[in-house]
Amino acid sequence: MIEKKFGIIGKPLSHSLSPILHNFWYKKYKIYADYSLIEIEINEIERVIKKIRSKELQGINVTVPYKQAVIPFLDLILDDAKETLSVNTIALNEEEKIVGYNTDVYGFEQGFLKKLNNQNLKNNKVLIIGAGGVTPSIVYALKKKGIKEIYIGNRTFKKAEDIKIKFPFIKIIKWENIEEGARKMDIIINATSLGLKGGNNFKQEFTKTKANLVYYDIIYNPEETIMVKKFRKKNVKSFNGMEMFMYQGQKSFTLWNKINPEFDEEIKQILASKIK
Ligand code: ATR
Repeated sequence: MIEKKFGIIGKPLSHSLSPILHNFWYKKYKIYADYSLIEIEINEIERVIKKIRSKELQGINVTVPYKQAVIPFLDLILDDAKETLSVNTIALNEEEKIVGYNTDVYGFEQGFLKKLNNQNLKNNKVLIIGAGGVTPSIVYALKKKGIKEIYIGNRTFKKAEDIKIKFPFIKIIKWENIEEGARKMDIIINATSLGLKGGNNFKQEFTKTKANLVYYDIIYNPEETIMVKKFRKKNVKSFNGMEMFMYQGQKSFTLWNKINPEFDEEIKQILASKIK
Protein backbone atom coordinates (compact mmCIF):
# COMPACT_ATOMS: atom_id res chain seq x y z
CA MET A 1 0.00 0.00 0.00
CA ILE A 2 1.24 3.50 -0.87
CA GLU A 3 1.96 5.42 2.32
CA LYS A 4 3.84 8.42 0.97
CA LYS A 5 3.46 10.48 -2.18
CA PHE A 6 6.07 12.51 -4.01
CA GLY A 7 6.18 14.21 -7.38
CA ILE A 8 7.82 16.70 -9.66
CA ILE A 9 6.20 19.95 -10.79
CA GLY A 10 7.13 21.75 -13.98
CA LYS A 11 6.13 22.12 -17.58
CA PRO A 12 6.81 20.35 -19.87
CA LEU A 13 7.58 17.18 -17.95
CA SER A 14 7.16 14.33 -20.39
CA HIS A 15 10.94 13.87 -20.74
CA SER A 16 11.60 13.72 -16.97
CA LEU A 17 13.33 10.61 -15.67
CA SER A 18 12.78 11.54 -12.03
CA PRO A 19 9.86 9.11 -11.50
CA ILE A 20 12.00 6.23 -12.79
CA LEU A 21 14.90 7.12 -10.51
CA HIS A 22 12.85 7.71 -7.35
CA ASN A 23 10.42 4.83 -7.81
CA PHE A 24 13.38 2.50 -8.37
CA TRP A 25 14.81 3.56 -5.02
CA TYR A 26 11.43 3.31 -3.24
CA LYS A 27 11.15 -0.24 -4.42
CA LYS A 28 14.75 -1.08 -3.59
CA TYR A 29 14.54 0.29 -0.04
CA LYS A 30 11.02 -1.11 0.50
CA ILE A 31 9.47 2.27 1.16
CA TYR A 32 5.81 2.26 0.22
CA ALA A 33 5.85 5.44 -1.78
CA ASP A 34 5.00 6.69 -5.23
CA TYR A 35 6.65 9.48 -7.24
CA SER A 36 4.72 10.97 -10.14
CA LEU A 37 4.77 13.72 -12.74
CA ILE A 38 2.67 16.74 -11.80
CA GLU A 39 2.55 18.93 -14.88
CA ILE A 40 0.96 22.23 -13.91
CA GLU A 41 0.47 25.81 -14.98
CA ILE A 42 2.05 28.60 -12.94
CA ASN A 43 -1.26 29.52 -11.27
CA GLU A 44 -1.54 25.99 -9.84
CA ILE A 45 1.72 26.12 -7.87
CA GLU A 46 0.10 27.32 -4.65
CA ARG A 47 -2.54 24.60 -4.72
CA VAL A 48 0.06 21.85 -5.12
CA ILE A 49 2.37 23.23 -2.42
CA LYS A 50 -0.58 23.34 -0.01
CA LYS A 51 -0.70 19.55 -0.34
CA ILE A 52 2.65 19.46 1.47
CA ARG A 53 1.14 21.24 4.46
CA SER A 54 -1.91 18.96 4.46
CA LYS A 55 0.42 15.95 4.09
CA GLU A 56 -1.25 14.73 0.93
CA LEU A 57 2.25 15.03 -0.55
CA GLN A 58 5.44 14.33 1.40
CA GLY A 59 7.79 16.06 -0.99
CA ILE A 60 8.10 17.69 -4.39
CA ASN A 61 10.84 18.36 -6.85
CA VAL A 62 10.62 21.49 -8.94
CA THR A 63 11.92 21.88 -12.45
CA VAL A 64 11.69 24.40 -15.31
CA PRO A 65 10.22 26.93 -15.33
CA TYR A 66 9.18 27.12 -11.64
CA LYS A 67 12.42 26.97 -9.59
CA GLN A 68 12.02 30.62 -8.57
CA ALA A 69 8.27 30.90 -8.87
CA VAL A 70 7.69 28.48 -5.96
CA ILE A 71 9.60 30.62 -3.42
CA PRO A 72 6.73 32.95 -2.37
CA PHE A 73 4.68 29.89 -1.32
CA LEU A 74 7.34 28.46 1.03
CA ASP A 75 7.86 29.21 4.72
CA LEU A 76 11.64 29.26 4.39
CA ILE A 77 14.49 28.45 2.05
CA LEU A 78 17.80 27.02 3.21
CA ASP A 79 21.48 26.77 2.30
CA ASP A 80 22.10 26.52 -1.43
CA ALA A 81 18.48 27.51 -2.15
CA LYS A 82 19.09 30.75 -0.25
CA GLU A 83 22.33 31.41 -2.10
CA THR A 84 20.84 30.80 -5.54
CA LEU A 85 17.18 31.73 -5.03
CA SER A 86 16.49 28.54 -6.93
CA VAL A 87 14.49 25.72 -5.33
CA ASN A 88 14.26 22.21 -6.72
CA THR A 89 13.20 20.26 -3.60
CA ILE A 90 10.40 20.95 -1.12
CA ALA A 91 9.53 19.18 2.14
CA LEU A 92 7.75 19.76 5.45
CA ASN A 93 10.16 19.97 8.40
CA GLU A 94 9.60 18.87 12.02
CA GLU A 95 8.14 22.26 12.93
CA GLU A 96 5.63 21.83 10.09
CA LYS A 97 7.28 24.54 8.01
CA ILE A 98 7.37 24.15 4.24
CA VAL A 99 11.06 24.28 3.36
CA GLY A 100 12.72 24.85 -0.01
CA TYR A 101 16.08 23.26 -0.74
CA ASN A 102 18.39 23.25 -3.73
CA THR A 103 20.08 19.98 -4.67
CA ASP A 104 21.21 21.10 -8.14
CA VAL A 105 24.36 22.70 -6.69
CA TYR A 106 25.30 19.37 -5.10
CA GLY A 107 24.38 17.57 -8.32
CA PHE A 108 26.66 19.80 -10.38
CA GLU A 109 29.51 19.48 -7.88
CA GLN A 110 29.33 15.70 -7.63
CA GLY A 111 28.29 15.02 -11.22
CA PHE A 112 30.76 17.32 -12.94
CA LEU A 113 33.22 19.35 -10.85
CA LYS A 114 34.45 16.30 -8.97
CA LYS A 115 35.64 14.83 -12.28
CA LEU A 116 38.01 17.79 -12.67
CA ASN A 117 39.63 17.41 -9.28
CA ASN A 118 43.12 17.10 -10.70
CA GLN A 119 42.71 20.29 -12.70
CA ASN A 120 43.69 23.63 -11.20
CA LEU A 121 40.28 25.19 -11.65
CA LYS A 122 40.84 28.50 -9.90
CA ASN A 123 42.39 30.20 -12.91
CA ASN A 124 40.15 28.58 -15.48
CA LYS A 125 37.91 30.72 -17.63
CA VAL A 126 34.41 29.28 -17.63
CA LEU A 127 31.59 30.14 -20.01
CA ILE A 128 28.02 29.26 -19.10
CA ILE A 129 25.70 29.41 -22.07
CA GLY A 130 22.13 30.06 -20.95
CA ALA A 131 20.46 31.99 -18.15
CA GLY A 132 17.55 29.71 -17.29
CA GLY A 133 16.56 27.99 -14.06
CA VAL A 134 19.73 25.98 -13.50
CA THR A 135 22.26 28.74 -14.20
CA PRO A 136 22.31 30.26 -10.67
CA SER A 137 23.16 26.83 -9.23
CA ILE A 138 26.05 26.41 -11.67
CA VAL A 139 27.40 29.92 -11.01
CA TYR A 140 27.25 29.37 -7.26
CA ALA A 141 28.98 25.97 -7.44
CA LEU A 142 31.76 27.43 -9.63
CA LYS A 143 32.19 30.36 -7.27
CA LYS A 144 32.44 28.02 -4.26
CA LYS A 145 35.19 26.17 -6.11
CA GLY A 146 37.17 29.41 -6.28
CA ILE A 147 36.79 30.03 -10.00
CA LYS A 148 37.33 33.72 -10.60
CA GLU A 149 36.44 34.22 -14.24
CA ILE A 150 32.87 33.21 -14.97
CA TYR A 151 31.21 34.37 -18.18
CA ILE A 152 27.57 34.09 -19.20
CA GLY A 153 26.07 34.34 -22.65
CA ASN A 154 22.35 34.16 -23.25
CA ARG A 155 20.11 34.82 -26.24
CA THR A 156 17.98 37.17 -24.13
CA PHE A 157 20.48 39.67 -22.71
CA LYS A 158 18.14 40.79 -19.91
CA LYS A 159 18.13 37.32 -18.34
CA ALA A 160 21.93 37.32 -18.15
CA GLU A 161 21.71 40.74 -16.48
CA ASP A 162 19.24 39.32 -13.96
CA ILE A 163 21.79 36.66 -12.99
CA LYS A 164 24.43 39.37 -12.60
CA ILE A 165 22.26 41.16 -10.02
CA LYS A 166 22.61 38.14 -7.74
CA PHE A 167 26.21 37.39 -8.79
CA PRO A 168 27.85 40.74 -9.67
CA PHE A 169 31.24 39.08 -10.33
CA ILE A 170 30.09 37.37 -13.55
CA LYS A 171 30.90 38.86 -16.93
CA ILE A 172 28.31 38.94 -19.68
CA ILE A 173 29.16 38.06 -23.27
CA LYS A 174 26.66 39.20 -25.89
CA TRP A 175 24.95 36.38 -27.80
CA GLU A 176 26.41 37.55 -31.11
CA ASN A 177 29.92 37.33 -29.63
CA ILE A 178 29.48 33.96 -27.98
CA GLU A 179 31.42 31.93 -30.53
CA GLU A 180 34.40 34.25 -30.41
CA GLY A 181 34.23 34.39 -26.61
CA ALA A 182 34.20 30.60 -26.44
CA ARG A 183 37.67 30.44 -28.00
CA LYS A 184 39.45 31.64 -24.88
CA MET A 185 37.54 29.40 -22.46
CA ASP A 186 38.87 26.41 -20.51
CA ILE A 187 35.41 25.12 -19.68
CA ILE A 188 32.16 25.62 -21.61
CA ILE A 189 28.87 24.64 -20.03
CA ASN A 190 25.66 24.38 -22.00
CA ALA A 191 22.85 25.32 -19.64
CA THR A 192 20.30 26.00 -22.39
CA SER A 193 17.74 23.64 -23.80
CA LEU A 194 19.61 23.63 -27.14
CA GLY A 195 20.42 20.03 -28.06
CA LEU A 196 17.49 18.48 -26.22
CA LYS A 197 15.89 15.54 -27.99
CA GLY A 198 13.47 16.80 -30.60
CA GLY A 199 14.41 20.44 -29.98
CA ASN A 200 16.56 23.12 -31.53
CA ASN A 201 20.33 22.99 -31.84
CA PHE A 202 23.13 25.53 -31.68
CA LYS A 203 23.62 27.48 -34.87
CA GLN A 204 27.14 28.37 -33.74
CA GLU A 205 29.93 26.03 -34.81
CA PHE A 206 32.29 26.65 -31.86
CA THR A 207 35.48 26.16 -33.84
CA LYS A 208 39.01 27.16 -32.79
CA THR A 209 38.39 26.38 -29.12
CA LYS A 210 41.34 25.76 -26.78
CA ALA A 211 43.07 22.39 -26.97
CA ASN A 212 42.52 21.76 -23.26
CA LEU A 213 38.81 22.66 -23.35
CA VAL A 214 36.35 20.72 -21.20
CA TYR A 215 32.74 20.72 -22.43
CA TYR A 216 29.79 20.03 -20.19
CA ASP A 217 26.20 19.70 -21.35
CA ILE A 218 23.44 19.69 -18.73
CA ILE A 219 21.35 17.74 -21.24
CA TYR A 220 21.26 13.96 -20.82
CA ASN A 221 18.60 13.10 -23.36
CA PRO A 222 19.95 12.34 -25.95
CA GLU A 223 22.96 10.84 -24.25
CA GLU A 224 25.22 12.65 -26.72
CA THR A 225 23.97 16.01 -27.97
CA ILE A 226 25.26 17.24 -31.33
CA MET A 227 27.70 19.43 -29.39
CA VAL A 228 28.98 16.55 -27.26
CA LYS A 229 29.45 14.46 -30.40
CA LYS A 230 31.25 17.25 -32.18
CA PHE A 231 33.58 17.95 -29.28
CA ARG A 232 34.31 14.27 -28.64
CA LYS A 233 35.31 13.92 -32.27
CA LYS A 234 37.87 16.65 -31.64
CA ASN A 235 39.06 14.82 -28.51
CA VAL A 236 37.63 17.48 -26.23
CA LYS A 237 36.77 16.00 -22.85
CA SER A 238 32.96 16.16 -22.85
CA PHE A 239 30.29 15.15 -20.36
CA ASN A 240 26.51 14.99 -20.38
CA GLY A 241 24.15 15.88 -17.54
CA MET A 242 23.19 12.38 -16.44
CA GLU A 243 25.30 12.29 -13.30
CA MET A 244 24.16 15.75 -12.26
CA PHE A 245 20.61 14.52 -12.64
CA MET A 246 21.33 11.42 -10.55
CA TYR A 247 23.12 13.28 -7.76
CA GLN A 248 20.46 15.96 -7.41
CA GLY A 249 17.90 13.17 -7.19
CA GLN A 250 19.98 11.34 -4.61
CA LYS A 251 20.17 14.39 -2.37
CA SER A 252 16.41 15.04 -2.68
CA PHE A 253 15.72 11.42 -1.77
CA THR A 254 17.97 11.70 1.28
CA LEU A 255 16.27 14.91 2.44
CA TRP A 256 12.86 13.24 2.25
CA ASN A 257 13.64 9.72 3.45
CA LYS A 258 16.81 10.01 5.56
CA ILE A 259 18.36 7.23 3.48
CA ASN A 260 21.26 7.89 1.12
CA PRO A 261 20.36 5.72 -1.86
CA GLU A 262 23.10 4.16 -3.95
CA PHE A 263 23.61 4.17 -7.70
CA ASP A 264 23.78 0.50 -8.52
CA GLU A 265 24.37 -0.93 -11.98
CA GLU A 266 20.69 -1.74 -12.38
CA ILE A 267 19.47 1.86 -12.11
CA LYS A 268 22.32 3.09 -14.30
CA GLN A 269 21.27 0.63 -16.98
CA ILE A 270 17.59 1.46 -16.65
CA LEU A 271 18.28 5.18 -17.09
CA ALA A 272 20.67 4.54 -19.99
CA SER A 273 18.00 2.46 -21.73
CA LYS A 274 15.55 5.37 -21.49
CA ILE A 275 17.75 7.78 -23.41
CA LYS A 276 18.68 5.58 -26.34
P1 ATR B 1 13.87 28.53 -18.47
O1 ATR B 1 12.40 28.63 -18.26
O2 ATR B 1 14.61 28.09 -17.24
O3 ATR B 1 14.47 29.75 -19.12
P2 ATR B 1 14.13 27.13 -21.01
O4 ATR B 1 12.99 27.79 -21.68
O5 ATR B 1 14.34 25.69 -21.28
O6 ATR B 1 14.05 27.27 -19.43
O7 ATR B 1 15.43 27.92 -21.41
C1 ATR B 1 16.64 27.64 -20.84
C2 ATR B 1 17.70 28.43 -21.57
O8 ATR B 1 17.75 27.98 -22.94
C3 ATR B 1 17.49 29.93 -21.62
O9 ATR B 1 18.73 30.51 -21.36
C4 ATR B 1 17.05 30.17 -23.05
O10 ATR B 1 17.42 31.41 -23.59
P3 ATR B 1 16.43 32.70 -23.47
O11 ATR B 1 16.65 33.24 -22.10
O12 ATR B 1 16.88 33.62 -24.53
O13 ATR B 1 15.03 32.19 -23.69
C5 ATR B 1 17.83 29.10 -23.77
N1 ATR B 1 17.26 28.80 -25.10
C6 ATR B 1 16.17 28.06 -25.37
N2 ATR B 1 15.95 27.98 -26.70
C7 ATR B 1 16.95 28.71 -27.28
C8 ATR B 1 17.30 29.01 -28.64
N3 ATR B 1 16.57 28.55 -29.68
N4 ATR B 1 18.39 29.76 -28.86
C9 ATR B 1 19.14 30.22 -27.84
N5 ATR B 1 18.87 29.97 -26.53
C10 ATR B 1 17.80 29.23 -26.26
